Amino acid sequence: MTNQAEVVNRVSEFVRQHHADEPTGHDWWHIYRVHKMAVRLAGEEGADTFVVELAALLHDIADWKFTRGDADAVLTETVTNLLTNLAVDELTITTVIKAIKEVSFKGAGVNTKPGTLEAMVVQDADRLDAIGAIGIARAFAYGGHKDRLIHDPAQQPTIHETFEQYKTSQGTTINHFFEKLLLLKDRLNTRCARELGEERHQLMEKFLSHFFEEWEGIA
Ligand code: ADP
Ligand code: NI
Repeated sequence: MTNQAEVVNRVSEFVRQHHADEPTGHDWWHIYRVHKMAVRLAGEEGADTFVVELAALLHDIADWKFTRGDADAVLTETVTNLLTNLAVDELTITTVIKAIKEVSFKGAGVNTKPGTLEAMVVQDADRLDAIGAIGIARAFAYGGHKDRLIHDPAQQPTIHETFEQYKTSQGTTINHFFEKLLLLKDRLNTRCARELGEERHQLMEKFLSHFFEEWEGIA
């Protein structure tokens, strides 16, 4: 097998090109941050760093939000081709693909607890990037891209019970905080992520309470 550091470099280069100039908060810098955080969490938790690095770098390569057709099939094909060409062994490739499939949020009522430590670490790193200061910025970037309203007091948040409901919803970006972002803190898997998540969560709560006060001309 090609040396692991070399594989990670080559995969980074591939992913950097794939996500270049992406305007929805799923750009290369999202991948950069998730990769950094995942390496940190893997170290703290004793997870397999090679699997974690590859899964973190490739986790949004075929995101369901932006992939036409069967996102899982595209994921499997893209990752298998890429890693086979870099002489990564088959077991590592299937482990990485399986971990990536477990990362995504699928609605408040859908259980997405991963089955391995490596997938837990990558899911935590991805979710930490959806909350806090960066999470706020990404939510509005994504909402704008999807023509969502910032806020509409007449619209109540929905607790989605199925992935299908979550996928097809057209709510406001403020409602997205209640439908996903504020729920993430209690769904983080690792101790270190839960500590970091606490502070990021508080920042979002502060942001939202100020937002509603400004809306009514109070603050
Ligand atoms: P996941 O796979 O769990 O959805 P991603 O890495 O794709 O995670 O990140 C999702 C990002 O997209 C988050 O930052 C989130 O705020 C944003 N996002 C997803 N759906 C919406 C929405 N309906 N409104 C605003 N932002 C959204
Ligand atoms: Ni992501």
